[in-house]
Amino acid sequence: MNKPLLVFREIEKSFSGSQILCGINLSLYPGKCILLSGKNGVGKTTLLKIIAGLEIPDLAKIEISGKTDCWKKAVRSVRKEIIYLHQNPIMFSSTVELNVAYGLRFTSLNRKQRQESVEEALEWAGLTDVAKKHAKTLSGGVQQRVAFTRAWILKPKVLYWMNRWPIWTTSRVKRHINYWSE
Ligand SMILES: Nc1ncnc2c1ncn2[C@@H]1O[C@H](COP(=O)(O)OP(=O)(O)O)[C@@H](O)[C@H]1O
Ligand SMILES: [Mg+2]
Repeated sequence: MNKPLLVFREIEKSFSGSQILCGINLSLYPGKCILLSGKNGVGKTTLLKIIAGLEIPDLAKIEISGKTDCWKKAVRSVRKEIIYLHQNPIMFSSTVELNVAYGLRFTSLNRKQRQESVEEALEWAGLTDVAKKHAKTLSGGVQQRVAFTRAWILKPKVLYWMNRWPIWTTSRVKRHINYWSE
C-alpha cells in the first residue's frame, strides 16, 4: 500500500467535561475513500472538523511525510491540502458554470486554462446541460453535484464530504462513493 498522506494520532476532544473523542487514530491514503458512519451525536462532525483544521482538539498529533508534530503546529500545512464540503452546500448567486469556476481564480491558471478546466469538470459531472442555469434554481441533488464539482476542480489532496445517507444500504453508499471518487 502507498504511504499515507496524513496520519492523525491520539485525537481527544471534550465539550463541557463530556468526552466525545478519545484515542482516535486515522490514516488517509492517496486514492482511498474512508466512510465514517455512526449514530447521531457520536462525534463524526467533530472528528471531521478537527482533521480539516476547523475545530481545535484537546489533544492530537499529525504525521506528514514521516514527520510528526502536534496538531497546532502541523495544521497549517494540512489546511492547504483539504476541502471540506458541507452537507447543505451554499450556491453562489450565479450560474452553475461560474459556481464551478469560482476557486480557479485563486490558482495560477490563465483564463483559457480556467475555461478548459471548467468545461472538463462540467462534462465529468454531467452538468454541461445546466451550465448556464442559475445554480439556486436547481434541485438540492443537482446543487450538491455543483458543490462537489466546485471542490473537485481544485484537485485537493483530501476531500471531506459531509453527507446524510438516511435509509441507504451500505452497498448503495459504496456505489455512490465509488462513482464520485473515479
Ligand atoms: N461546539 C459544541 N459545543 C458543545 N457541544 C458540542 C459542540 N459540537 C458538538 N457538540 C456535542 O458533541 C457531540 C458530538 O457531536 P457531533 O460531532 O456533531 O456528532 P455527529 O456528527 O456524529 O452527529 C454531541 O453530543 C454534540 O451535542
Ligand atoms: Mg454530524
